[in-house]
Amino acid sequence: MFSKYDNEMNLEFISKSNNEAFARITVAAFVSGLDPTIEEIADIKTAVSEAVTNCIIHGYENTEGLIKMHCTIEDNTIFIEISDNGKGIEDINLAKEPLYTSKPNLERSGMGFTIMESFMDEINIESVLNLGTKITMKKTIKKAKKEVEENNNVCNMA
Ligand SMILES: Nc1ncnc2c1ncn2[C@@H]1O[C@H](COP(=O)(O)OP(=O)(O)O)[C@@H](O)[C@H]1O
Ligand SMILES: [Mg+2]
Repeated sequence: MFSKYDNEMNLEFISKSNNEAFARITVAAFVSGLDPTIEEIADIKTAVSEAVTNCIIHGYENTEGLIKMHCTIEDNTIFIEISDNGKGIEDINLAKEPLYTSKPNLERSGMGFTIMESFMDEINIESVLNLGTKITMKKTIKKAKKEVEENNNVCNMA
């Protein structure tokens, strides 16, 4: 069944640090129809921030490039895809390790992927050296889940 929440959006913006706030606020607005808790919104915004910051700092190394964000909502779950056409990741397993950073001189914490993994239900990293990186994340919004289940029950009863 096509849920009343189902939705899709695409956003493209250049890799300026100002756009990190723009991206996270946009996703927060997009997901607001699912009536997330303050905590769920904060988790999603933080994960988006980390992914976009990585595109800017690591993917494009502060040169100008395009960042794409594609979001869909299916039932009570938001899927977020954030990609760049930057330098790519040489060793994804190493990059995912807590505290690993390739830029210790910039005082990076090396916790970006760990934060994305703990704040979202799932994250997937795809990357090709010199072609770019795509992060896919998903999170189920709890309250909406209850409503979707209730709707299904009503449909089943009808
Ligand atoms: N979009 C990206 N393009 C290229 N390299 C990336 C990208 N995102 C992450 N990386 C690599 O993965 C490492 C770990 O990322 P992260 O956990 O966010 O830590 P930090 O950003 O603090 O270095 C980075 O240091 C970088 O080498
Ligand atoms: Mg990071």
